[in-house]
Amino acid sequence: MAMPTHPEVPRHLAVIMDGNGRWAKSRGLPRKAGHRAGAETVREAVDVCQEMGIEFLTLYAFSSENWNRPEKEIEALMKLLERFLKTKTREFAKKNVRLKAIGQTHRLPDSCRAELEKVMAETKDNTGITLILALSYGSREEIADATRRIAVKVQSGELDAGEIGNDTIAAHLDTAEFPDPDLLIRTSGELRLSNFLLWQLSYAEFYITSKNWPDFHKADFREAIENYSRRHRRFGRV
Ligand code: FPP
Repeated sequence: MAMPTHPEVPRHLAVIMDGNGRWAKSRGLPRKAGHRAGAETVREAVDVCQEMGIEFLTLYAFSSENWNRPEKEIEALMKLLERFLKTKTREFAKKNVRLKAIGQTHRLPDSCRAELEKVMAETKDNTGITLILALSYGSREEIADATRRIAVKVQSGELDAGEIGNDTIAAHLDTAEFPDPDLLIRTSGELRLSNFLLWQLSYAEFYITSKNWPDFHKADFREAIENYSRRHRRFGRV
């Protein structure tokens, strides 16, 4: 795996990819054109993060709340995701990308989930960047699921309730095998977490930009990382 090119590069970057709809609207295009452009930015994101030596990249691709969008838009997003996965297998092999997912992926349409499982299986031994797609993901739902799993273990006697600590919770979340994100980027200017990685972002730095996701390019990623590095250098001095 590529070592971080700079010790102050985040090990794990998480992104709330927002503003596809606004990007499309400002061009008089349908929302799905915004999502299509957003998927292109996902490709750029993986490349630039790999170039910079980031080890984990988590993308909020579809939230639990997104199921409330019009059926047509959900359908377009699922199709886009499926196509993205279908075209990725060879590229991920070449670029040594490992694909993972968090969220209630059992809620995805069968064909989409099958493609996801396939790419995850095919890339599981890759040692480069780990791309984690948050799909049908909601942090509160994740914490509730983890709590249920812990309760089952307590009930069966496998776990002692008195011994439940932070580590126990972390170990039962979907993200158990990943380090916590060091940096969160949110595009299109909203100052909200929107039910994304509430537990895991406890100590993360935030970088909010007014740019819409389809307008967020490699140079913007580099600027966000440089901003993060500067903060770290400054904190290091005091
Ligand atoms: C927010 O824009 C974005 C989403 C709801 C989904 C993100 C999806 C993609 C970037 C494309 C597909 C992903 C992959 C991994 C291929 P919005 O629709 O909420 O924008 P708005 O707030 O301007 O309406």
